[in-house]
Amino acid sequence: MTDPVLAIDQGTSGTKALVICPERGVIGSGSAPVRPRYGSGGTVEADPAELLASVLDAGAQALAEAGEPVAAVGLANQGETVLAWDPATGRPLTEALVWQDRRTEGLCTGLAAHAEELRRLTGLPLDPYFAAPKMAWIRRELTREGVVTTSDSWLVHRLTGAFVTDAATAGRTQLLDLHDTDWSPPALEIFGLSDERLPAVVDCAGPVGTTTSFGGDIPLTGLLVDQQAALLAQNAVEPGNAKCTYGTGAFLLAQTGSRPSTGSSGLVSCVAWRFGGRASYCLDGQVYTAASAVRWLTGLGVISGAADLDPIGSAVPDSGGVTFVPALAGLAAPWWRGDLRGSVTGLGLDTTAGHLVRALCEGIAAQVVALAEAAAADLGSPLTALRVDGGLTRSALLMQTQADLLQRPVEVSALPDVTALGAGAVARLGLDPRLDVRQVMPRWKPSAVYEPRIGPDEAAARLDGFRAAVDTLLERT
Ligand code: G3P
Repeated sequence: MTDPVLAIDQGTSGTKALVICPERGVIGSGSAPVRPRYGSGGTVEADPAELLASVLDAGAQALAEAGEPVAAVGLANQGETVLAWDPATGRPLTEALVWQDRRTEGLCTGLAAHAEELRRLTGLPLDPYFAAPKMAWIRRELTREGVVTTSDSWLVHRLTGAFVTDAATAGRTQLLDLHDTDWSPPALEIFGLSDERLPAVVDCAGPVGTTTSFGGDIPLTGLLVDQQAALLAQNAVEPGNAKCTYGTGAFLLAQTGSRPSTGSSGLVSCVAWRFGGRASYCLDGQVYTAASAVRWLTGLGVISGAADLDPIGSAVPDSGGVTFVPALAGLAAPWWRGDLRGSVTGLGLDTTAGHLVRALCEGIAAQVVALAEAAAADLGSPLTALRVDGGLTRSALLMQTQADLLQRPVEVSALPDVTALGAGAVARLGLDPRLDVRQVMPRWKPSAVYEPRIGPDEAAARLDGFRAAVDTLLERT
């Protein structure tokens, strides 16, 4: 019998932890919420202490339920969230600026002349979403003290004392050379970060240190940014395999193999993972607000939570002419207009909560279609199907809408907490270098497959309506 591993997914709205055994599956789980604070001017901050506490709390719950020791820990992280901290004490020096934070719009505008060079070096467009603009902003506006890193480096330091980040997370900064997967001196210079003390860029699997935070000495052997962890757990290891995770945002990733894509569709080209010094690459597209748009609608009192999407949306046959562009934190790929605000059009006295819910589902799904089309253009062939995971996949209305607009089957993973499963897979790989990635991937099976129920003409007409609404927003600014 193989010893289990503790897999932790530190996400935007909470931390999930699983104790996973290859033979017995998940034998313990825990979770703890994180409450990002949304401020004016597009600021989104999290309390670093809450991030760490949520990791320790969720991990302890999972271990208590499993009731047996683990051989290793794996950690997935939210990617582009950054903070400054004191490497001598581990004390945070700033709040964590969450990936959704838009305060660096002006800083990015000021660097626009370098946008093409940055894309060529790092595969990433210039946008406040990524870590480097936030790191530069912290240095300009908040503090010159300590180190400024993505949240994974801080968490790993608090857990083990190591000062590292994995190649896939480093690839979310816009400071990593896409080809040699190490820090890029020209990119660092563009952001004014050349003198920074940066974490060592390590493989996603392999021992990085030992933690006593969960009782005993446990090696930390897996580190991976969360969307890539989900890509791995969805078994998307062959070029062309794709997945979409519907969490706080929705993220579509398509595997491109051992070479980064050089396509021009507007998607991010980045590291999927690096094992044994060899990088695998993927295309990545983002819908900035998915569950957070549902939470916004909930905050307005239109629904009382995500569980209402299906009963309320199903009370009407269609969106009643309402079009919702849920660009509540701007639009990412392929538009890269983070400055845009959302819109709801076509309202009438007969508009009901059901119409708004359906329009929101269409707005999220239409953005995912735009990402899938961009990925297909870069890959040179259409995606055959889409594997999906994340909390919003529980909405049959959203998933059916997705299949309808995509005109492809949408396959919902039977395994919940896919991201944590990916973290567990890299932890296991890091324990035994003789293993191949295919030997540690969770066995994939769907819990549901949604087939398109409308024809291509109707899908095209509905997508045209959404695109026209996006075009109106683009023209206005
Ligand atoms: O890029 C940010 C994204 O990876 C965060 O994912 O699951 O925390 O919304 P999640």
